[in-house]
Amino acid sequence: MDNSIKQRHASLVEEIVRHDRAYYVDAQPVISDQDYDRLYRELLDLESKHPELSISDSPSQRVGGEPLDGFDTVQHALPMMSLDNTYSQDEVRDFIDRVQKLLPDESLDWIVEPKADGIAISLRYEDGQFTFGATRGDGFSGDDVTKNLRTIRSIPLRLQSNNEGELPSVFEARGEVIMTRSGFKKLNSIRESDGEPLFANPRNATAGSLKQLDSTLVSKRPLDIVLYGNGEVINGPKLNSQCILFDVLGEFGFRTPEHIWHCSSSEMVISAIEELDRIRGSFDYDTDGAVIKLNRFDLRDRIGATAKAPRWAMAYKYAPEQAQTRLNSITIQVGRTGTLTPVAELEPVFLDGSTISRATLHNDEEIFRKDIRVGDTVIVEKRGDVIPGVISVVKDLRPPNAKPFEMLFVTGNKCPACGGTIQKDEEFVAWRCVNQDCPAQAAQRLEHFGARTALDIECLGDIVSDKLIESNLVFGPLDLFDLTLEQLAPLNLGNADEPRIFGKKNAIKLMDSVKRSRKMGLDKWLFALAIPELGRTTASVLFKFHKDLAGLANSEILNKVIKLDELTGMAVRINPRSRKNKPTSEAEKTKRENDYSQLVDEISRVAECLVKLGFASITKLNGNHPPNYTTEVGPSVARSVLAWFGSEKGCETLARLVELGIDPKGADSSQSNNKGVFAGKTFVITGTLSGMSREEAKAKIEANGGKTTNSVSKNTDYLLAGEKAGSKLSKAELLGVSVLDEIGFLSQID
Ligand code: IVH
Repeated sequence: MDNSIKQRHASLVEEIVRHDRAYYVDAQPVISDQDYDRLYRELLDLESKHPELSISDSPSQRVGGEPLDGFDTVQHALPMMSLDNTYSQDEVRDFIDRVQKLLPDESLDWIVEPKADGIAISLRYEDGQFTFGATRGDGFSGDDVTKNLRTIRSIPLRLQSNNEGELPSVFEARGEVIMTRSGFKKLNSIRESDGEPLFANPRNATAGSLKQLDSTLVSKRPLDIVLYGNGEVINGPKLNSQCILFDVLGEFGFRTPEHIWHCSSSEMVISAIEELDRIRGSFDYDTDGAVIKLNRFDLRDRIGATAKAPRWAMAYKYAPEQAQTRLNSITIQVGRTGTLTPVAELEPVFLDGSTISRATLHNDEEIFRKDIRVGDTVIVEKRGDVIPGVISVVKDLRPPNAKPFEMLFVTGNKCPACGGTIQKDEEFVAWRCVNQDCPAQAAQRLEHFGARTALDIECLGDIVSDKLIESNLVFGPLDLFDLTLEQLAPLNLGNADEPRIFGKKNAIKLMDSVKRSRKMGLDKWLFALAIPELGRTTASVLFKFHKDLAGLANSEILNKVIKLDELTGMAVRINPRSRKNKPTSEAEKTKRENDYSQLVDEISRVAECLVKLGFASITKLNGNHPPNYTTEVGPSVARSVLAWFGSEKGCETLARLVELGIDPKGADSSQSNNKGVFAGKTFVITGTLSGMSREEAKAKIEANGGKTTNSVSKNTDYLLAGEKAGSKLSKAELLGVSVLDEIGFLSQID
């Protein structure tokens, strides 16, 4: 090809990228739309004559090709955490004080930035090139939505060179994909005239757009992105603080928040939050709060994170929208642990983009405290994605005959689902149905077992779960493994008058996914079993540190967490330096000093084991108290998990799993990494595997000492390639990475 064509192409690319940035990132276009279109057409023209020019970072590659048939799941190199949040300014002050206590000798500075109301995304760049982008998912892995992200013009396909002109080997930028308010309005008005359902708000429209399998459709959605964080960075600029991060993001060509505040005290933080609230209406995208972050990264590292969220940041949410409506009745819902939750049945009312007709009332104490009565006019509120709640009653509008709510009166002292005994659970202020066989609980447990975030069993929604329990085909989740096609296919989801048959196709789908669940990891199983207090995040932590269920039932780690908590409790009680509980004589003082120092030594011994395993971190408080350690999973959860394994229900479940030959595996990171044929080797999996799922392949790699990453680089040792392997295979071949097919892979393990 003529060199001048290559040069013209390069200069067109450079020019269009510059104009894209001016238009989409800086909001300051320098040429007219017609001139831009002219450049763009010339580029397309040139590339259609010389297809070898349409390389992946050409602006022409933003609109995707073939629709996908689903999204791949990709693991995040570093987890994408969530934030603790609050609606109270006092809690923001407490948060700042708490961090100051953890870092007593430091003078702290804070960044306050807008909390964009969109979908969290991680963008990965390798050698400056955008390689993939993923949603947050469960924080550890998310959906690979690269094709859709490439259509967002403010995402640079190649990082701009910073001052030193060097690009990092790896740079992950994190932020929020959003839909502009103006774009959202336009989109909805087009949908309205096309007779399509409307999106409730820009956030839902963003989520819906990113989930589209056809990126050509996505390219028509007015999406944008704001970046505020980073993930993995290798050979990149030194990121010492949030301020520097924003500079670096800007230099690389990313859009960053409209406005940030640099503060050095709680009062400055609070006034920044208030100022943001005054100006956020002028932003072109929705914000639902402010994020307060410790500026310095070295201090962030020192205080670390809990299983869910970093200790160095907090989200303050602005008061949500409210609406006024009538409370028509109060019904009672039975949850999967038997909790009876009163639900407000409301006169339908439009609130924050959707019509609501139900709101949670939490428990009867809450109803009593707020004096909520049937017939009342109530104020309802919606906070983010959570179920709307009743905030207060407009007492002036109360009908004269409205009676106070009485759980016992409404329920007749019986579970509304099974008629069994109900009891007040003193600790949790809730009423509970104590009947283990209560069908409402069983149905909810069954539905939870098959949820997407648990064992992902297709076709097992609420109706099917209800009917399986009602028809006595299933009593508990593990009975699913005994179901036959003959039992399942004729299941009537309707009623005798209007039957609605489940059908063979759905029955096969359900049974296939039940079969697949046998091989799911320990994390999914733990969550699916609905062990009290064990959420998804805890399940993923336990997965990392245990080999299997038997290992967890006798978990040394959890026993140490409990021991640590008991010892710390004792140390606090006998601490001779505590102001509350001073020794009364010299002799007692000496004895207490001795006992205390022995206890502190023991605490350190137990905690150090946990620290070595990566399960605890030290957060030393001031000298008058015993050292404080934070563990990945707290003592209350540890007790609940071990208690479940020791309970009749836990033992029965374990025995039944053994009978069924199901033995879910954990990663047991403390042991598995330095043994096995793949010790220290890095794998990338691509294409469609026929004999196993990706999860299984990953488990096999890890069981043999290896690890998996998402993208091929010079650090990759093996590419495990299934059918229809695409660009990753070409890249591996280019870099000389060993490629294994499934047979080759399995033979290495054998
Ligand atoms: S920082 C480890 N900064 O809010 C810290 N998050 O409620 C991770 N969000 O999952 C988040 N604007 O999706 C951060 N300026 C901002 C944000 C922000 C919006 C979202 C993000 C996060 C969620 C937590």
